[in-house]
Amino acid sequence: MNIKITLLAAACVLSLTACGDRTPPPATETAAPTPTPADAPAEPVPAATPAPATETSAPAVSAPAATPAADKPAAVVSNCATEIEGNDAIQYNVGSIAVPASCSEFTITLRHVGQLPVAAMGHNVVISRTDDMQAVAADGLAAGADANYVKAGDARIVANTKMVGGGESTSVTFNTSKLKDGGPYSFFCSFPGHIVTMKGTISVD
Ligand code: CO
Repeated sequence: MNIKITLLAAACVLSLTACGDRTPPPATETAAPTPTPADAPAEPVPAATPAPATETSAPAVSAPAATPAADKPAAVVSNCATEIEGNDAIQYNVGSIAVPASCSEFTITLRHVGQLPVAAMGHNVVISRTDDMQAVAADGLAAGADANYVKAGDARIVANTKMVGGGESTSVTFNTSKLKDGGPYSFFCSFPGHIVTMKGTISVD
């Protein structure tokens, strides 16, 4: 036990950065007291504490799959249009789209920035009332891949793009009056299972 701690302390002295202490050169003075073996048990505790804290916070941040739509940024809108992205991790890059009230028509372009083919990682944008989207997605699933996972003539769908694979883009332009009543509305990907992580809100502001 003590040996391990002493080794850890020694490692910390040899490699300050590995222990989470980013303080540059001046650290030489801080490291000076450590040589005393008797001090070893006391020293490592404060020295080691910051390190795990830094390391555990890092993985938590880099967990994109669990990022809820609400935590994603709003789409950048200009000239009554926006471009959003879909990736190979089943994620859009935005969590909401605010359509300016001054726009009579609005265009959404979806860029698939991944590499997987449409059959494995297809993405589209389907807009419907939030209350309808699960049913719309279920009917799209039943319609199948040949139908782009969108039920033909589905009156609940305000607008939808075609399904694209990695490296492809698609866009749809629709009349914004369809979004002004009966909301809230959402956009989502109707590829099987993707609605779980690929969804966001769309509203006229
Ligand atoms: Co998708």
